[in-house]
Formats: sequence, structure tokens, C-alpha cells
Amino acid sequence: MIRAQPVAVSVEGLTKAYGTIRALDGVSLTVGAGEIYGLLGPNGAGKTTLIRSLVGLVNPDAGTVTVLGRRLPDRTVLAEVGYMPQAPALYADLTVEENVRFFASVHDLDRRTGAQSAVDALELVDLTSRRRSVVATLSGGMRQRVSLACALVHRPRLLLLDEPTVGVDPQLRAELWQRFTTMSGEGTTIIVSSHVMDEAERCGRLGLVRFGRMLAEGTSAELRRLAGVERLEDAFLVLSESKS
Ligand SMILES: Nc1ncnc2c1ncn2[C@@H]1O[C@H](COP(=O)(O)OP(=O)(O)O)[C@@H](O)[C@H]1O
Ligand SMILES: [Mg+2]
Repeated sequence: MIRAQPVAVSVEGLTKAYGTIRALDGVSLTVGAGEIYGLLGPNGAGKTTLIRSLVGLVNPDAGTVTVLGRRLPDRTVLAEVGYMPQAPALYADLTVEENVRFFASVHDLDRRTGAQSAVDALELVDLTSRRRSVVATLSGGMRQRVSLACALVHRPRLLLLDEPTVGVDPQLRAELWQRFTTMSGEGTTIIVSSHVMDEAERCGRLGLVRFGRMLAEGTSAELRRLAGVERLEDAFLVLSESKS
């Protein structure tokens, strides 16, 4: 396939077992710079393990991971990667702004830059008015947004979002997707996992993951055509049947 953009992420033959469970079973994928790539699959498919592998949090049994031109393990890549974990990892007893500033300092932004970046990130997720609220007092959807601000504060070139809109109401979900689309337009590469099929339509390209394997890749339209069905849900079922 001819690609207009440079490669942001390249994974080859990635395998990871936990005891007898094959969380990843020879996954390969390539994501171009500025793409929104959706990892779609049911619970237990291996989405989180794959995303964690891209930040070096998983020590693979086999295979290679190259992120922004650097073969992992390589901690220097973290300066350019934002990771929003499936369960928000925030300090509940700190304010919204303190949490975001903390992540700025982790990424070595100096105090002034960090403070300004925190202001910008909170603006982006529309939480400026709640910046002095203690995280423990926030709703789940707001915590998701704080978590996103933390992942964004150092302006990463690659954003990894693990089910970012679970438990988020439809309006906020639409807003977050609008922001992802804008960022992608500005050149940020986004890899986002989901088990919600309607979100998948917003991704440029999708990878259908099941049992730690990549079942099929393509745009939503391509996958539906490949499976000979009208709905992406049905494509998932047809394509996973034909592979099992
Ligand atoms: N740290 C771990 N220890 C043991 N099993 C794990 C661990 N992480 C993931 N698994 C298992 O690997 C499989 C894939 O999990 P995961 O990557 O979380 O899938 P998904 O995010 O698609 O739900 C599941 O069976 C899960 O229980
Ligand atoms: Mg997961």
C-alpha cells in the first residue's frame, strides 16, 4: 500500500501471554502520522495490552514495536506520547489543575510552560471553570476529561486513548470526538480503542481485534464490504466467524 504520510507506529508479530492466556497472538499493524486508528474488539480481545505495549508497559514475548521512529524499549519516546489509560489514573485529593500540572512536570515541562500548558489542555477539554475542583468531587465523565487533559498536556505527537468515552454521555462523547478529529487534522496520530461500533465510524481506519489477533483492517466501509454486510457490528461477527 502506498502511504502519503510517514509511519508513526509499526508493530510486527507482537505476542504476549499471561500464563495460558494469549493476550496478544502475533499482532501486526502500521499507523501513519495523523491517522485516527481505531482498535475495535470485545472485552478481553487484547486492546489494552496492545496499547500498553506502545508505551513500553508490556514486555512482549515476541515481536517488535516501533513508535515515532524508535524501536522499543526506549523511554525517550514517552516525551512525545500521551497515554489515557482505560481507568483514569488521577490523584483524587488534588484539584483538576494540580493533576494536569503534575503530568506536565512528569514530562519535564518547566513551571511556567507547565502552568500555561495545563491552562491550554483544560481549555481544550472544556474544564477551565472546574480547574479548582478536587477530583474526588467530579463525575465520571469529568474525570475522563481530566485524564484526557493529562494525556495532552505535553502536546504529544502520538495519543493513545484506551476506551476514552466509556461512561461518558453522548453529548460529551461527540465533543471529545470533535477534539480528536481536530487534533488529527493538526498532525497528531491517534490510536483509540473502543467496543462501541458507532464510534468506529469516526476513525479513519479500523483494526478488528479478537483473541489477541488482528482479524481485519480497513475503513468502516471497506470492512462492511469485505464482510458483505451493511452494519459494522455484523461485519465484526462475519469476519470473526470466518477466522475462527
Ligand atoms: N496483567 C495481566 N495479567 C494477567 N492477565 C492479563 C493481564 N493483562 C491482560 N490480561 C488478560 O489478557 C487478555 C486481554 O486483555 P486486555 O488487553 O485487557 O483486553 P481488552 O482491553 O481488549 O479488554 C484478557 O484475557 C485479560 O484477562
Ligand atoms: Mg481494555
